[in-house]
Amino acid sequence: MGDSAAKTFFPTPPLLAEVPRDRWPGHVAAIMDGNGRWAKQRGLPRIEGHRQGAKTVRRIVEESARLGLRQLTLYAFSHENWSRPKEEVAQLMSLYENYLIDERPTLMKDNIHFRNIGRRDGLPESVLREIDQSERASAANTGLTLCLAVNYGGRQEIVDAARRLAVEAAAGKLDPAAIDEDRFAAALYTAGLSDPDLLLRTAAEMRVSNFLLWQISYAEIYVTETLWPDFAEADLHRAIADFARRQRRFGGLENT
Ligand code: FPP
Repeated sequence: MGDSAAKTFFPTPPLLAEVPRDRWPGHVAAIMDGNGRWAKQRGLPRIEGHRQGAKTVRRIVEESARLGLRQLTLYAFSHENWSRPKEEVAQLMSLYENYLIDERPTLMKDNIHFRNIGRRDGLPESVLREIDQSERASAANTGLTLCLAVNYGGRQEIVDAARRLAVEAAAGKLDPAAIDEDRFAAALYTAGLSDPDLLLRTAAEMRVSNFLLWQISYAEIYVTETLWPDFAEADLHRAIADFARRQRRFGGLENT
């Protein structure tokens, strides 16, 4: 656990009552899937699913802060999501912008440190402005780190890191022999952040979809049928409790 201690009078949720605190994941990452299906089931336009999904984001961020998790990373918009209809992309961008503006007071109230990961190229100026503003405003916060992956792709991140290191090497500022895992990780968008302990995906899809490819090497994966707009605080507790029962061996043997 990080230094983001849960609020003093917050009672442990029933599903976590028997789960020792040192078995909880520090960093939870989520692939938020099923917004479209949620809307379709109700005969609504897809944007309504995304709007409901944004409400889930608000609830899960606040709950993660309350629980005292160290980091929550959410896959909000992938590199591949640009291939969606222009109108849906524009609606999603406007949702992110509004989310960043509306939730800034909550970030400050709950001591949440905001970070964005992904390529800046291609994002609307208005979204970039709000991202920068939230990062700046929350830079000194010491509680939960909320990391939003917008215009993010795992392969693109690895390519960008390789290019950055190659440029340094070509300029004579970096000895290629000095490139090891730590040096490479420091060139990724996630420099300075921890790797996810738990990767959860909603809407039953069994894929990682180009999300944090380097960082999830040893993450425990949890897939639920629940669609993201329906994902409740209790679902997060269930995922944490399930994680706590796993034996993580990191390629070694049990108890070594
Ligand atoms: C996948 O659902 C979801 C996305 C591509 C975007 C995630 C966006 C949100 C949760 C809403 C807003 C987020 C923030 C941070 C304010 P899908 O459309 O692929 O669903 P489907 O597979 O059922 O069609």
